[in-house]
Amino acid sequence: MPIRVMTVFGTRPEAIKMAPVVRQLKARPEFDVKVVVTAQHREMLDQVLALFAIRPDYDLNIMAAGQTLYDVTAKALLGLRDVLREERPDTVLVHGDTTTTFVGALAAFYEQIDVGHVEAGLRTGNVYSPFPEEMNRRLTGTIARWHFAPTPTAAANLRAEGVAPERIFVTGNTVIDALQTAVRADTDAAPWADGLADGDRVVLVTTHRRENLGEPMRHIYRALRRLVTEVPRTHIVFPVHKNPAVRRVVHEELGDIPQVHLIEPLEYSPFAKLMARATLVLTDSGGIQEEAPGLGKPVLVLRDTTERPEAVAAGTVALVGTDEERVYTAAHRLLTDAAAYRQMAEAVNPYGDGTAARRIVDALAYIYGKTGEKPADWIANQP
Ligand code: UD1
Ligand code: UDP
Repeated sequence: MPIRVMTVFGTRPEAIKMAPVVRQLKARPEFDVKVVVTAQHREMLDQVLALFAIRPDYDLNIMAAGQTLYDVTAKALLGLRDVLREERPDTVLVHGDTTTTFVGALAAFYEQIDVGHVEAGLRTGNVYSPFPEEMNRRLTGTIARWHFAPTPTAAANLRAEGVAPERIFVTGNTVIDALQTAVRADTDAAPWADGLADGDRVVLVTTHRRENLGEPMRHIYRALRRLVTEVPRTHIVFPVHKNPAVRRVVHEELGDIPQVHLIEPLEYSPFAKLMARATLVLTDSGGIQEEAPGLGKPVLVLRDTTERPEAVAAGTVALVGTDEERVYTAAHRLLTDAAAYRQMAEAVNPYGDGTAARRIVDALAYIYGKTGEKPADWIANQP
């Protein structure tokens, strides 16, 4: 009998980071895999499914414009109840910290099905930052039986909360597996390149965190406006998240500046190319904090906390929050002080080496009795 694994995800970053796991599971005959998407995101999710050629077995199609946490939670929970009752997998895999993640774990628990948590153990220590993600991952961690921690730091967080070491597997982060695929993908598309000359500096910006909606985002955008006005030959390329609450403020604050290129969310491969072309990245994203350091790009994180301390410790990521003056000063310095820039622009990769998905699937084979020994933990910076 094959091991019956169900993967549940719903947003762009979950899809990017689960795609390598789905592919590994499908390639191994000892597994039978079903892919369920809540489609908490629609277009942004579909872009990723197309790139990785993943056709979901179930699509709950729950997204509504301007949805609240209540809408996502209630619709996903009811949809997953029906799918889980029909399929009854041996285990449900969820990823990270979205509302789909938590609800996927909760639904599996209600059906008394084992939960495996991919990207387990990230913590800021503040349940309102990021909101609601810090609580989502804590709740998911409480429900999960198996914890796939991306880094030794994440594993240590779990052990400190009392999770038994035999339930924790350190695997690296599957985002690096996905990024390697995106970088390799055969695309010349660079829909962001219009209006840019070869020597121009590109500052890549993304914002979407709920706790930054409204005034904090306004402050960030005012800092950006000053930056491109005052530093010559500097352009901002800003793929704007589909959330209407983000779009409104972005267009109000930045819609009329020629050096600011507001574009639609990019497919993952062109986005990877854009990261590689950028001089500097300003973001409140989680995944981009993991990807850009590997490409040698300094990242200024537009948040007060991070659950990804590894690249901060390595010196390539700095937390700058959302205060206009602070964002402006930090970015201005990196664009005008070559020594300060060089110091931050070192390529480091504490998050993975492209083998995380295989390690997760090896762990599942071990857990469900198909192989004998607990797989060794991944160690950062190994060759
Ligand atoms: C969600 C996750 C967040 C993750 C982020 C990645 C929660 C609570 N939040 O936040 O953890 O970091 O995704 O981007 O789970 N929209 C579209 N089309 C899309 C996607 C979104 O139109 O393809 C619009 C819709 O109007 C939707 C809104 O964006 O209502 C917000 O989407 P939602 O998933 O609720 O929150 P995010 O801020 O995207
Ligand atoms: N990304 C993308 N196109 C874009 C912006 C981001 O493919 O226009 C990718 C990015 O490379 C990363 C992921 O989306 O892998 C991050 O998603 P997001 O910032 O929405 O979510 P978070 O990581 O904060 O949960």
